[in-house]
Amino acid sequence: MNIKIAPSMLSADFANLERDLKEVEKNGADYLHVDIMDGHFVPNITIGPDQVAQLRKVVDIPFDVHLMITEPLKYIDQFADAGADIITVHVESDGDIQACLDAIVKKGVRPGLVVSPDTSLTVIEPYLDQLRMILIMCVYPGFGGQSYIPASTAKIRACRQMIGNRNIDLQVDGGINFNTLTEVVAAGANVVVSGSCLFKGDMKENIGQFRKIIQR
Ligand code: DX5
Ligand code: ZN
Repeated sequence: MNIKIAPSMLSADFANLERDLKEVEKNGADYLHVDIMDGHFVPNITIGPDQVAQLRKVVDIPFDVHLMITEPLKYIDQFADAGADIITVHVESDGDIQACLDAIVKKGVRPGLVVSPDTSLTVIEPYLDQLRMILIMCVYPGFGGQSYIPASTAKIRACRQMIGNRNIDLQVDGGINFNTLTEVVAAGANVVVSGSCLFKGDMKENIGQFRKIIQR
């Protein structure tokens, strides 16, 4: 299976974002994972659509926008206009899930749903045929640098089964590093997000190391 690597911008140096994003692009990452937090759905705050639009101008890599916000429906058009290629919405948010998916598709963006660690996969089932991505959170959303929750592995495996032969990317986010990568890929993940691990030290070496581990 072709595994995609999505470095999470959350761990970039925000005083040098252009430099760091170009580094991500140059070293063959597949997506840039853009974490959007509103200080309400999660305790942390990141950036909004205006900043995403500015970043869109400096790199061509696809933007995978992970919305950790209470009212996703209100902002989908703005993030799509800002240049998102994929938008994922938490099923735990206050948004009408079907309305969110419709809004994303209407903008020509690839739609996805996210489940937090305590959320059952059954919530996603009714929407399966409309999805291009499912994101399984392997930590509680809000912060980079947390440890992988071991129970995530069984969930990834179950999700891969649920997807069957549908064309849906299975993404994992949170605590993915040189040690946990093998396990999530073996369980069926094909898009791996990683922030603190990939941005620590040399991006080129780290992505290279990820590719080596994946190929084993
Ligand atoms: C957490 C974010 C993640 C975060 C992952 O809420 O959704 O994308 O950046 O960071 P690491 O890879 O450090 O766990
Ligand atoms: Zn994320």
